[in-house]
Amino acid sequence: MKLLVTGGAGFMGSNFIHYILKKYPEYEVINLDKLTYAGNLKNLSDIENNPNYRFVKGDICDANIINELVPQVDAVINYAAETHVDRSILAPQEFAQTDVIGTLTILNSIRENGNKVRLVQISTDEVFGSIEDGKFTESSPFEPNSPYAASKAGGDLMCRAFWVTYKTPVIVTHSCNFYGPFHYPEKLIPLAITNLLEGKKVPVYGDGKQVREWIYTQDHCSAVDTILHKGVEGEVYNIGTEREFENIDIVKRILDVLGMNEGFIEYVKDRPGHDRRYSLDTSKLRNELGWKPEIEFDQGIKDTVEWFKNNEAWWKEIKSGEYKNYYNQQYGRKD
Ligand code: NAD
Ligand code: TYD
Repeated sequence: MKLLVTGGAGFMGSNFIHYILKKYPEYEVINLDKLTYAGNLKNLSDIENNPNYRFVKGDICDANIINELVPQVDAVINYAAETHVDRSILAPQEFAQTDVIGTLTILNSIRENGNKVRLVQISTDEVFGSIEDGKFTESSPFEPNSPYAASKAGGDLMCRAFWVTYKTPVIVTHSCNFYGPFHYPEKLIPLAITNLLEGKKVPVYGDGKQVREWIYTQDHCSAVDTILHKGVEGEVYNIGTEREFENIDIVKRILDVLGMNEGFIEYVKDRPGHDRRYSLDTSKLRNELGWKPEIEFDQGIKDTVEWFKNNEAWWKEIKSGEYKNYYNQQYGRKD
């Protein structure tokens, strides 16, 4: 099978390429990535000479490059996106461009190429907004609250429209929060781990009682693998662990793993429009496609902390670059 993985130099895309080439060594993977601040070819340095892997630098909004690559593959897995909620609050424009127009560009190319190539659209639970009780199912209404979530919702709705109108073979996934190796240190878990490894405090927004569901990289990869091979075109699948944690609990567990105390927690101003709780019903993926997650949170977080300890050069290089400007602007400080 030949795959086009877009955004393959980012956190989850690079984990997925590693997973696929290990599990199916005969598969061929093209990685198309614009290399924004979040894209890092060091995530893939160990496979750069694999004859079944090829990197192409490019933008998913560029129809010329997409039209050239789509006919070369059997499926596209679209990880490419602007992904960070806080950055979408600071500067929303690029989010709509990549997450909506980029997705449209891929869909349109598949359509013009005869609807022969399957698209797996990697999306988020955030499109559903916040839920106080109960869980979001695949047919819950979209109520996005951040420019990031609204942009992802726009891309997902375009997928739906292309399926209904043109029978473009697309499957949309809504995932809970990922964590694991190569996680860009702007997101809560890697930010907390790397700040603590540097002896700095962890900024916790508001009261820290917001609830998220977390999935380890390996489990997310196996879910997408299952959906790619067994998913039904035109369908939507939620991906999650059904294990929920308050943010403050996550930070305390990381402190625990590192043997540090709660003096390293710093409550800061809340995120505007902050979603209180996400929660996914994942019974469709489990019952219809036979998938289940394997990694308990306690194990996943230990492995993640270990990875960051062993890959200090990777995250220190990120934190000394553009990240510094973002961090100072977001957290109003220079520490
Ligand atoms: P990331 O920010 O780590 O990486 C995004 C990658 O996309 C980068 O390599 C970047 O260079 C590339 N990219 C950005 N704009 C591009 C463009 N216009 N053309 C080509 N490449 C471009 O993202 P991630 O956390 O790995 O998330 C991957 C996908 O999963 C995204 O679609 C995101 O919305 C979705 N998702 C993420 C989470 C999470 O917890 N991180 C949860 C649910 C869904
Ligand atoms: P994040 O990792 O940005 O993912 P998302 O907003 O897409 O769920 O944030 C996870 C949760 O952690 C979210 O409720 C916001 C909170 N958070 C903090 O409390 N402090 C931080 O420094 C960051 C980055 C996030």
